[in-house]
Order: sequence, then C-alpha cells, then structure tokens
Amino acid sequence: MTEPETTSAASAETAARPRVTLITGSSRGIGRVLALKLASRGEHVVVNYKKNAELADDVVREARELGGGGLAVQADIEEPDDIDALFEKVRAEYGRLDGFVANAAASAFKPVSALKLHHLDRSWAMNVRSFVLGAQRASALMTNGGRIVAVTSYGSLRAFPTYASLGAAKAAVESYVKFMATEFGPRNITVNAVNGGLIDTDSLEYFYERVPGMAPMQSVIEKVPLGRPGTADDMASAVEFLLGAHAGYITGQTITVDGGLTVVAPPYWADTSGELRAAVFGD
Ligand SMILES: NC(=O)c1ccc[n+]([C@@H]2O[C@H](COP(=O)([O-])OP(=O)(O)OC[C@H]3O[C@@H](n4cnc5c(N)ncnc54)[C@H](OP(=O)(O)O)[C@@H]3O)[C@@H](O)[C@H]2O)c1
Repeated sequence: MTEPETTSAASAETAARPRVTLITGSSRGIGRVLALKLASRGEHVVVNYKKNAELADDVVREARELGGGGLAVQADIEEPDDIDALFEKVRAEYGRLDGFVANAAASAFKPVSALKLHHLDRSWAMNVRSFVLGAQRASALMTNGGRIVAVTSYGSLRAFPTYASLGAAKAAVESYVKFMATEFGPRNITVNAVNGGLIDTDSLEYFYERVPGMAPMQSVIEKVPLGRPGTADDMASAVEFLLGAHAGYITGQTITVDGGLTVVAPPYWADTSGELRAAVFGD
C-alpha cells in the first residue's frame, strides 16, 4: 500500500529532526556521560541540575561540540513547582520530548531505626514523586511515541546497611515502571529501569567515605564477580540502549548493571582459600 503523500512528508520531517531527551541530574556522574553519548549522535539533551550551573553549562557546551545540542535547566526535582517549570521550559523550547531519564537521586543513609519523618518524606518526594510527576509531564510531550528510563540501584533488590530509605524508594520506582509500561504502551511509549550496582561516581565515594562506620569499599568490590566497580559509562550505555532503536519492544523491565553483584551469596569466592580459591583467582 502506498502512503499518502502528506503522511510521508510528515514522517520524513519527524525522522529528520533531532531527538530530544531530558535527563534529570545530568551535570555530573552517570547523567552527564549519558548526555554526551546522546549528543555525539546529534541528539539534543536537556541538562537538568540543582546547584552547579557552571557544570551544567559545560555539559551543554560539550554536547554542541560533539554535534548535538541542548540546554541547561535548573530545577530542584524535590519541588513540584520546579518540575512544572522544567517541563514548561522543554515545551517552550522544543514543543515535544522523545526521551525522559529520571536519573537524579538523593536520600539519607541511616539505619531504619534512625529515620525521621523528614527523611522518609523527602526521600519519597525526591526519588519517587519526582519520577511520577516527571513521567506524567514527559508522556504528555511524547506525541510521537517515546522512551522513559528510570535509574535505580541494587538497594531495591538487596538489603545492606543504611540504604533502606533509598532502596525502598528505588523499589517503588521499579514498580511504577511496570504500571506506566502498561498504561503508556498504547501510545508507543516504553518505560524501563536500569538498576546499578557499585558505580564509580561522586555518590559512591560519599557512601563509603562519609557514612560513619561504613564497611570498606574494597570488601564489597572483591565480592563482585567481575571484580571491579561499574563505571558511569557502563550505566549510561544500558540507558542509551533502552532509549535507542534496538529496544523498541522492551517495556516494563529493569536491567541490572552490577557486574553480577546481586547474584552472589555467601560463602563468597573471595573468602575461599587454597586450591579452591586458586581455581577462580589463580593465586
Ligand atoms: N553512584 C553509584 O554507585 C550508583 C549506583 C547505582 C545507582 N545509581 C543511581 O544513578 C543515578 C545517578 O547517580 P550519580 O551518582 O551519577 O549522580 P547523583 O549524585 O545521584 O546526581 C548528581 C546529579 O544530580 C543533580 N541533583 C542532585 N539533587 C538534585 C535535585 N534535587 N534536583 C535536580 N537535580 C539534582 C546534581 O546537580 P547539582 O550538582 O547541581 O546539585 C547532579 O547533576 C541515581 O539515581 C543513583 O541512585 C548510582
């Protein structure tokens, strides 16, 4: 069947325009690496940040140098009014959105018995509410289908010291991913999550160096089957895949990027000795 001429012209225009993706918290860490990956494919990125305008402006400048485009937008995603203003800025600038990546996260790292009311409320607002409000506004701008990806972490799957507040929020996000996938699917919008293990960014350093009494990072790294922390690039590559053309039939899923950390259990290979240890580590 031949397509009507006007439809072909409209499709050609749609195919020619650069894709636009909003990434929360993309002035640093995983978000920044992802923004630059998309820009190097000629795409436009909306670089959201909270405090450091200079870093966000640098990402936009680098994105342009790589052949893409974009803009930096300050918005504290813990604040619903800021989320509204962020998406309004996207609407005013582009009138549409192809991708939304809920990446920024923050929480208090404390034992459950020490979590105060404000810790619980703020963690929900920052990590879960912001994702739902963002996905509502993003999907409204995805008039030609789209991709939504949430960045979560292995605290949604496994329990370890001080991570309850963030881990439970990430589990809620992964659950929302499934509900959104069923609801937005008919509009050709996919919704997925990328769940990270130990990923080498500022926040990893904060967790192991600044949370009083935290176990040494090395004691965890040696339990990771791949024997190293992940990189921001490892995470960004998985998100890029879910945003891209090859992932069009994947929705409602969580892909774990953790070097195998969530499949191990005690006793650990790292704690074996003698010939048994040598069989794996060769030492
Ligand atoms: N690093 C890890 O080990 C690890 C492991 C698994 C999963 N993850 C997940 O990966 C994601 C990214 O982590 P990351 O370590 O790369 O970076 P991050 O520390 O979570 O985020 C840094 C970015 O978020 C922005 N940001 C912070 N609070 C914000 C707020 N209230 N509103 C808007 N933006 C805000 C920062 O902007 P300013 O600098 O301007 O404040 C910066 O651009 C998170 O969802 C995290 O849970 C990380």
